[in-house]
Amino acid sequence: LTLENNCIVIFGASGDLTQRMLIPALYKLYSHQKLSSSFAILGVSRSTYDDQSFRDKLIKDLASDDNVDHESLDKFCEHLFYQVMDPENKYEYKALKQRIQSIETALKIKSNTLFYLATPPSLYSVIPQNLAAHGLNIEDDGWKRLVIEKPFGYDLESAIALDKSLYQDFTEDQIYRIDHYLGKETVQNMLVLRFANSIFEPLWNSKYIDYIEVTGAEDLGIGSRGGYYDNAGAMRDMIQNHLLQVIAMVAMEPPAVINADSMRDEVVKVLQCLKPLNEDDLKHNLVLGQYTKSHVRDECLLSYREEKGVPEDSRTETYIALKMFIKNWRWDGVPFYVRTAKRMPTRVTEVVINFKKTPHPVFSANPPDNKLIMRIQPDEGTLLSFGLKKPGAGFETEPVAMDFHYSNLKNSELLSAYERLLLDVLKGDATLFSRSDAVSACWEFVQPILDYKKNKFDLYGYAAGTWGPIEAEALFKNGQTWRSPC
Ligand code: BG6
Repeated sequence: LTLENNCIVIFGASGDLTQRMLIPALYKLYSHQKLSSSFAILGVSRSTYDDQSFRDKLIKDLASDDNVDHESLDKFCEHLFYQVMDPENKYEYKALKQRIQSIETALKIKSNTLFYLATPPSLYSVIPQNLAAHGLNIEDDGWKRLVIEKPFGYDLESAIALDKSLYQDFTEDQIYRIDHYLGKETVQNMLVLRFANSIFEPLWNSKYIDYIEVTGAEDLGIGSRGGYYDNAGAMRDMIQNHLLQVIAMVAMEPPAVINADSMRDEVVKVLQCLKPLNEDDLKHNLVLGQYTKSHVRDECLLSYREEKGVPEDSRTETYIALKMFIKNWRWDGVPFYVRTAKRMPTRVTEVVINFKKTPHPVFSANPPDNKLIMRIQPDEGTLLSFGLKKPGAGFETEPVAMDFHYSNLKNSELLSAYERLLLDVLKGDATLFSRSDAVSACWEFVQPILDYKKNKFDLYGYAAGTWGPIEAEALFKNGQTWRSPC
């Protein structure tokens, strides 16, 4: 897929996402000559800037990086523009349209426009409607694409309503829903590991796999995002989107070819097989927790309820552990244990495939563990652990490992998730973007938990900086347990 000249219009241009993620990613692509020969980035928001002050603000962090080439940064800045506007005011879109056209004419850009909504979700319906009212959704003279960031809705009902509203003016092909986990090299690598290697795929089913763990642990608390997080909780923030997408990558069937339709058809098929959670699951297979104050080394870690923007009686979960199943031929009876939390001892995202023990213990009563660990971050790589003979007399076994680290590869600089996804959307490749039916399938699966939380429910405390409430141990049976990643 080739990259045509284009104009990227970022709504919410004065916000955090634009400054921290989008502009650094676009600059990196630019400095690696991955953007088209002519392009423009037009920032839009209510804040008062002009082109120059916008450029100065955005590149402040980049310019202070010692490794940055200032000449190329200055050249990049020439592509940045700014327009003050209230995105809720439909009358201001006429001026926006004119500005886009004048930039396109000046830079000789064909009318290919990407509208990136780095705004609060409350604007996800309004902006597309206003764009359409001014014909900015029409693809007569070039493509028009819309990027939206999670959360896609707040629950199943609002997600369906959001799609309905978007579809009034844009087609599914024009809509790119970003789940940045799909942009991670190591998440995509799970497909390659499974489907490009005949040593793994034959074992990838309920006959050989005992259970699967998915951990998304963060050591940080919620920082300054109390207002957002308290309405979301770990369920909406991490499970509904990122971790269910990871599970889809682990559990899906091989696509016939790698393209947007084929891949996303397989993703949705497996998500639609998630076993619906019933009352018994909510009681026995779900543990919700919230971090409490603690002292780790010399640091005093606040409790969640003491964080800025969080009500002091909040019952929002910062920890969730869930035992779930996939009801299909491949996975029948294999438990998937998923956990995610803020304020754990370390930051680690990984998937652990725990293989079954050999059927007859020849060497010792307890055959060695066979585990395949896919480390998504931060130490990206793959670890296979198994047993070998202990040197010396007899036939005792001892655990050994084969450990691959991406950092050992030559030329191993990984594209960040935003770099990869921005490049894909500019090329028109939707393979790594969430399709509407997959988003709905995820909401459908988590909706019983959201309903359960509306009533009285158990919320367990865990000291900040620990692995979560001990009650989560009760999810496991028959010697299954979490791997300790550090
Ligand atoms: C975001 C969540 O979507 O993902 C954050 O809103 C979370 O709360 C983040 O910290 C995790 O992303 P990553 O790439 O750091 O694992």
